[in-house]
Amino acid sequence: MEILDGRKLSKTLKEEIKEEVSAIVAQGHRPPHLSAVLVGNNPASEAYMGNKVKSCDMVGFDSKLIRRVEDISQDELLEIVSQLNNDDRVDGFIVQLPLPEHIDDEAVLLAIDPAKDVDGFHPYNFGCMAQGMDCFLPATPLGIITMLERYKVETSGKNVVVIGRSNIVGTPMSILLSRKSPSGNATVTLAHSRTKNLKEICLRADIIISALGKPFFITHDMVKEGVVVIDVGINRIDDLSRKSGTRLVGDVDFEKVAPKSSFITPVPGGVGPMTVASLMMNTLKAFKRKFDYTYNK
Ligand code: GUN
Repeated sequence: MEILDGRKLSKTLKEEIKEEVSAIVAQGHRPPHLSAVLVGNNPASEAYMGNKVKSCDMVGFDSKLIRRVEDISQDELLEIVSQLNNDDRVDGFIVQLPLPEHIDDEAVLLAIDPAKDVDGFHPYNFGCMAQGMDCFLPATPLGIITMLERYKVETSGKNVVVIGRSNIVGTPMSILLSRKSPSGNATVTLAHSRTKNLKEICLRADIIISALGKPFFITHDMVKEGVVVIDVGINRIDDLSRKSGTRLVGDVDFEKVAPKSSFITPVPGGVGPMTVASLMMNTLKAFKRKFDYTYNK
């Protein structure tokens, strides 16, 4: 069994990006810039945002965090998006989700310039992804694909089960793994809350990707020997042995599933850090596209 160490790999990826940024700056260009909009003070969003800003510093990007109160109006938020779209110094930006109830997420995502949509959430980028065209891939699927590639986990001809059909993880993941490409060519089953016989389906899987959000959902009797397990779940559960009284777990009963696996991601330290590294990769890509930037390494 080998641990797919997202923390270590994301550090390597960020070091690679940092080297590229140093070379860009050494040639007299400004560094890439990522802006992020955070509405309200959802604790999970605060934590993600802290990691994103820290990672920008680490790789040498300029970044700006735009904070707004929970009761911002939709028009005010759309105005911020419009300013970011038109600001030449901003290469890419994200609007952290979830947004407050009174804001129409769809209207906000549609307002983002697809060329700056480094989250890859705009339907233009989603459509390009589905057709195998150049685009920004959403950060979590890009992180998982990168992890599988770097650890040389073969996907071609494999049976993959993706659990969860969200727009930002499950659905794009199923498309990316089934397309004709080096990290695709798999036979993919996209399972969800209405799926019947999930245990039987999982038992046939060579690779399971769980993005469900239910702690300990994937148990050892649901997986075959040698399975590859990618756990996208981040669930906070009570743990009175910790000072905080809680701890983070994934969707997978790691202790019992890991011994049967050939590769498995831990939580925390698996997919999560890869998502942040992917956002950095997309921002660098936005910068390079904008300046059609090439240089000699
Ligand atoms: N909320 C949870 N994950 C994400 C993400 O990757 N991007 C944005 N914008 N919001 C999120």
